[in-house]
Amino acid sequence: MLAVHLVSFFFSKLQEDPTKKVDRFLHAMRLQDDQLTDISKRFMAEMKKGLSIESTAAAAVKMLPTQVRSTPDGSEKGQFLALDLGGSKFKVLRVKVREDVGIRKGGVELEEKTYPIPKELQVGRADELFDHVSESLKDFLHEKNISPKKKHPLAFTFSFPCEHPSLDQGLLLNWCKNYRVRGLQGKDVVKALKQAVNRTGDMDIEVLAIVDDTVATMMTCGFDDQCCEVGLIIGTGTNACYMDELRHIDLVEGDEGRMCVNTEWGGFGDDGALDDFITEFDREVDAASLNPGKQIFEKMVSGMYLGELVRLVLLKMAKLGLLFDGHVSDALRTKGKITTADVAAMEEYRSGLKNTKDILTHLHLSPSPEDCIAVQQVSTIVSFRSSNLVAAGLTAILTRIRQNRNLRGLRITVGVDGTVYKTHPQYSKRLHKVVRRLLPDCQVRFVLSESGSSKGAALVAAVAQRLTSQRRKVDEALSLFPLKQQQLQLVRSRMREGLEAGLKSRGCTIKMLPSFVYHTPDGTERGKYLALDLGGTNFRAMLVRFKRQKSRLYHKIYTIPLEIMQGTGEELFDHLAQCVCDFLDYMGLKKARLPTGFTFSFPCEQSGIDTGTLVSWTKGFKATDCVGQDAVSMLREAIKRRNEFDLDIVALVNDTVGTMMSCAYEDPQCEIGMIAGTGSNLCYMEELKNIKKIKQSNGTTNTNKEKLEGEEDENAAMEAVKSDVTAEKSKMCINTEWGGLGDDRCLDDIVTPYDTEVDIQFEKLTSGMYLGEIVRQVLLDLTRRGLLFKGHVCCFVFPLPSDRLALLQVRSILQQLGLHGTCDDSIIVKEVCGAVSCRAAQLCGAGMAAVVDKIREDRRLDRLSITVGVDGALYKLHPHFSQVLKETVRVMAPQCDVTFLPSEEGSGKGAALIAAVVRHRQEI
Ligand code: BG6
Ligand code: BG6
Ligand code: GLC
Ligand code: GLC
Repeated sequence: MLAVHLVSFFFSKLQEDPTKKVDRFLHAMRLQDDQLTDISKRFMAEMKKGLSIESTAAAAVKMLPTQVRSTPDGSEKGQFLALDLGGSKFKVLRVKVREDVGIRKGGVELEEKTYPIPKELQVGRADELFDHVSESLKDFLHEKNISPKKKHPLAFTFSFPCEHPSLDQGLLLNWCKNYRVRGLQGKDVVKALKQAVNRTGDMDIEVLAIVDDTVATMMTCGFDDQCCEVGLIIGTGTNACYMDELRHIDLVEGDEGRMCVNTEWGGFGDDGALDDFITEFDREVDAASLNPGKQIFEKMVSGMYLGELVRLVLLKMAKLGLLFDGHVSDALRTKGKITTADVAAMEEYRSGLKNTKDILTHLHLSPSPEDCIAVQQVSTIVSFRSSNLVAAGLTAILTRIRQNRNLRGLRITVGVDGTVYKTHPQYSKRLHKVVRRLLPDCQVRFVLSESGSSKGAALVAAVAQRLTSQRRKVDEALSLFPLKQQQLQLVRSRMREGLEAGLKSRGCTIKMLPSFVYHTPDGTERGKYLALDLGGTNFRAMLVRFKRQKSRLYHKIYTIPLEIMQGTGEELFDHLAQCVCDFLDYMGLKKARLPTGFTFSFPCEQSGIDTGTLVSWTKGFKATDCVGQDAVSMLREAIKRRNEFDLDIVALVNDTVGTMMSCAYEDPQCEIGMIAGTGSNLCYMEELKNIKKIKQSNGTTNTNKEKLEGEEDENAAMEAVKSDVTAEKSKMCINTEWGGLGDDRCLDDIVTPYDTEVDIQFEKLTSGMYLGEIVRQVLLDLTRRGLLFKGHVCCFVFPLPSDRLALLQVRSILQQLGLHGTCDDSIIVKEVCGAVSCRAAQLCGAGMAAVVDKIREDRRLDRLSITVGVDGALYKLHPHFSQVLKETVRVMAPQCDVTFLPSEEGSGKGAALIAAVVRHRQEI
């Protein structure tokens, strides 16, 4: 005792200014800017850890995705009940968003009642706690005369760390602050609440959203200030949330838009990251808490612990004789005797010293005036450290946001709540000052959440409610698209009927055009050929060399401008000639007069392998004076007009046929070619005897002698075909032009009202050229009904410019169109695209099933194993098309094993192969 007195005497004489001795004693708590920057960097690293899928499980800072993506858009309305549990007060509220006023004009009304939560419930059983919550809710309904019979939507602010598989689920990770309730960890808090509501009875409650207080605070403040993208609580506990880009949040699917992340920064330091900043007092606070080793940062910062930290410092100083002449009272030894409110009172500007004296006296201490000054300084250092640490954390969050958005500066608002921030006299000023010092190039505005978190939680619920009702209506619209088994069977049988009819006579909806290709390649093809390819996305010129079952290709792609596609025939073919000329120049082959295969992907009535009359344009081509003309002649004439080079055009080929040939070169089982691209079509090897509309001369190999006959000659043609069926020529590839199915309205019973706006035809329901338009019709309808783009229809007066891309790049298309929808808008747009394109895949699958089953039956096989060569952007680039197509074929043609082989080099190689076969035979 004597020693203590001596130390005390020594210090009091040596130190005139009592604050100095405290400064020295609490040196470790007085953080300098470089230390704060260091802490900030550590916190940034922790945030990264928490967000990454590899490290999140072990991360101390949990970085929990909240499922909150939409901020209020002003269309929300209705009445919500709200619960606010986890702060210093438990509250039940009614939040009214008045329809006639609207959220943004201040139309939110709050009524609230605070209910006490007995201490024993905070450390008791989960069902007891939630029974209390639910009974309080019932009492509130009763008191406010709210009918218990009606269904009431409810928003739940639950300020403990939860994982959110959805907005209305919260799986509790752990309790903290003054709660340690048994039987809820890892479980859904909303479920526990619902069960309690059922136990209480006589209430119909629908929990729409469960959010953390930081999130609710951000929403509350964000409502008045659109720049508010951070929520901060410095109350009983401490925490922050912010809007992050979805692409950084591994745990949530999708990479577009943003989501609010609840950092749960209270756990910072739980893995030792702050050990060098932790003092013996922090360790003591932690050891005596309900959750030792956890929430280390929170224990250095939040209201639940600041008073206790001050008490422990004073106790230690007194024991060392640095205060109260070494006198220690029992009260000073007792946990909880100094509260955070005391700390705030001691720091008050004018009455601080008097408050300090009163508080100390109340603790049965007899402080000298110097003691009071010293104790006040202890409070200042402890609370200043708290605001400094918060500033370091915020600096990390704001730096992250700035970096994510690639900005040099940042204008942002932080919504704040919590008793420490609200009631401590200097806290907010100090915090603002340090943040601005640490982030000189950011303009940070702090907004206090005056009305607590419930307004924000109700807004989240309102958004959820809007989305739920929107969802239901969108789902209803989209449910029109997926085809049921029965409908697919119908498509399959209509397709089969169409195929059979088209084989018999001309003028059918499915044209079944003979291609005069009798064989798939056998690997003996040799030589150098030119291939031209018109009718897909681009025009391609290609040089192909075949040598010992190998091929080498050189090609160049040319675009066809819209004005050429829709100008005169002469202009179109002159343009092709110009592209070919450029290609030959490029290859140094202008003088060669190469044998050429011409892929011309439009319906052509062929009367021989090197001639075909264009039946009609498709896919947006409208060049005049072409329909009814021979495509090969038109090209030859254009080449003649140009008079710079010559070609030996030996084959006119549809792209389906070219694709089949190209794939058959790799796989001899390939007897079908399919295109799912700008257009939609299929060809296959048909038994010659079944092609009843073709008359053949005498089975010679001179293809030019084979002629198509009108229906009047059908019988004669049949006879001729019968006599012509030789081992060498038993099949011919038929270009089905299946896109015409439905021209006679036979698909009317499977289509949606959206399709009727476009046209009901197989091609229009299945090809990239038209799917965009169907999508547009759906979007237009949803927008008119207020379910998209806030109902602003004006953006839709023009069609999507590049329809087929709409399936793949929704977001950028929307942006190109000036449609800056919310993240939810683009999700809906994607879903619409998905529904429309999946149906397209189903339809193609049903059509394909008809074809493969026909081949199987014609060959009298129990099982058919066959390969389909396939090309086109829809098949190759769409994420789900091929999968749905394959699955549909599997189900609709169970006796066929169909392999899909994507054509690697386009149909040009196939056209060259056909040219090779023709040349070879002419040479024989
Ligand atoms: C209140 C909010 O205003 O602040 C609560 O409505 C929140 O949701 C609380 O938890 C935080 O502060 P404290 O000091 O009450 O913990
Ligand atoms: C190409 C073929 O690869 O695919 C063309 O070479 C075909 O002949 C095209 O027309 C189809 O796909 P898209 O998506 O370009 O219409
Ligand atoms: C605790 C909780 C957190 C909450 C904070 C403030 O840190 O874990 O969810 O936001 O307290 O109330
Ligand atoms: C259109 C054409 C057809 C072509 C298909 C794919 O349907 O009419 O000939 O095969 O598009 O490009």
